[in-house]
Amino acid sequence: MAAHGKLRIKEAAFRRFLSVAVITLFGAFLIIFLHRYSPVSDSVIRDAYESAESLQVTFNYSPRTENVNLPKQNELSIRLQKRNELPPRNLNLYPKLAKDNIVIVLYVHNRPQYLKVVVDSLSRVEGISETLLIVSHDGYFEEINRIIEGIKFCQVKQIFAPYSPHIFENSFPGVSPNDCKDKDDPVKKKCEGTPDQYGNHRSPKIVSLKHHWWWMMNTVWDGLKETRQHLGHILFIEEDHFIYPNAYRNLQLLTELKPMKCPDCYAANLAPCDVKAKGEGWESLIAERMGNIGYAFNRTVWKKIHRKAKEFCAFDDYNWDITMWATVYPSFGAPVYSLRGPRTSAIHFGKCGLHQGQGEKQACVDHGFLNIQVENIDKVPNIKTDWGVHIYWKQAGYQAGFRGWGGWGDTRDRQLCLDFANMYDLSST
Ligand SMILES: *[C@@H]1O[C@H](CO)[C@@H](O)[C@H](O)[C@H]1NC(C)=O
Repeated sequence: MAAHGKLRIKEAAFRRFLSVAVITLFGAFLIIFLHRYSPVSDSVIRDAYESAESLQVTFNYSPRTENVNLPKQNELSIRLQKRNELPPRNLNLYPKLAKDNIVIVLYVHNRPQYLKVVVDSLSRVEGISETLLIVSHDGYFEEINRIIEGIKFCQVKQIFAPYSPHIFENSFPGVSPNDCKDKDDPVKKKCEGTPDQYGNHRSPKIVSLKHHWWWMMNTVWDGLKETRQHLGHILFIEEDHFIYPNAYRNLQLLTELKPMKCPDCYAANLAPCDVKAKGEGWESLIAERMGNIGYAFNRTVWKKIHRKAKEFCAFDDYNWDITMWATVYPSFGAPVYSLRGPRTSAIHFGKCGLHQGQGEKQACVDHGFLNIQVENIDKVPNIKTDWGVHIYWKQAGYQAGFRGWGGWGDTRDRQLCLDFANMYDLSST
């Protein structure tokens, strides 16, 4: 009995020891597990963001400065440029991109009420989790930033144009104290500036559009380590482009069909060139001149565009798209077509100018944009691979010979534009 009792006590002690050991081991594993997985990748990324913010991090690659004479940067400009080196967000949720993914670049300024609609539309795009979304910011705005930081549906990389006129308060590319204004005569007023063909001096808010587009193109294709080796297409959209759920899958079909169906097409488009049109609804693909809503092209085409940097930067029009239509595309020697489906997969809903955003004198209020109807046929891929191609041979619009709307006469803007084209080492791409 006594022996039995002793054994029981020993057994009980052993059991207690065993359960403590198991719990301890389990706890240790739990700690190791938690440490290795989700919280760590988040905190590592957060730490990276924080140390970049504090300017202590040295990054292994930066735009080169020989051959180019970029404007003197202020503290915000330097900070944003360093931030551009950070890895994409959501790597823990989407560790791998799909093979042959089409990178999406969304360029934004400061219309948060529009951007929310666009981001919400993107969250419903079938296939978006397979790719990387790059958001290119013109200026730094907290509210815009918060919207982008809230995205959880794919990898997201934010980049900020470090030479945006919006982040320079009293020096070029912003307004400098000695700048000429309106139609000032530089000699009489002893001010700085070269007027455009209509006699007007530069307006930083207006030139920022073309600067941002060109900086972004150069940076995405030739600067970022995430994309400078990217061989496929890149899709470009804006902060007031509503994207349909079928956009990504349709675009995959279009880029796949393009070499066979339309060898003369340089690009694929999500929407018709006429920004008000929603498509013909035919059972046919359409080839027409390049549009400015949801256009996608590959590196071969980018290289052709980049070779025309001089033409792009010297053309006296502050609109990047009109500059492309009137100078760059015509210089390719053959008409530049883009392939699209017969029903649009993107809608331009902004009725206000890009730079009449929040905090401007004429605040832009626009209530019409929430009524976008997405029919069932637009929720799934609606392009058939056996369709033929209808080509619009001759089309209205800006052509070679158009002299431009002006706003781009200042030699400093033209030089900055050229510097953007030379700022990255192209030997690796
Ligand atoms: C890129 O697109 C152009 C125009 O569609 C095409 O001619 C070229 O072969 C493509 N390049 C690659 C590498 O696929």
